[in-house]
Amino acid sequence: ASTPYLRVTPSVLRAMNGRKGRDAWTALGGRVYNITPYVPFHPGGAGELLRCAGKDGNKLFGEVHPWVNYETMLAACLVGILVEEGDTGA
Ligand code: HEM
Repeated sequence: ASTPYLRVTPSVLRAMNGRKGRDAWTALGGRVYNITPYVPFHPGGAGELLRCAGKDGNKLFGEVHPWVNYETMLAACLVGILVEEGDTGA
């Protein structure tokens, strides 16, 4: 069965860490977002935002501003869903 989302494993997420010309992705609530276009707009600055690049951002995000509605803000940046390593969905 097909799925409308890209399935992103932790190792792929780790590779998208914003370095070496790569985009910065993070996972929030089981969804993976490309936060690259948002970097210049983040009220807390680029450096703070990029701390969650390439990894699950729930802990950092929740510690700083759990009230921020990332689902709405980053809707256009949705890449896919976070899955377990090796889970191709087949
Ligand atoms: C502020 C969005 C990730 C650190 C904010 C604000 C928004 C926002 C909307 C303003 C909130 C307010 O004034 O009530 C986001 C989104 C993120 C993200 C969409 C998605 C990944 C992070 C991360 C960190 C961080 C991972 C730190 C590790 C901060 C800080 C502020 C802030 C320190 C306060 C800035 C200030 O008021 O001077 N962020 N953020 N953010 N954010 Fe984020």
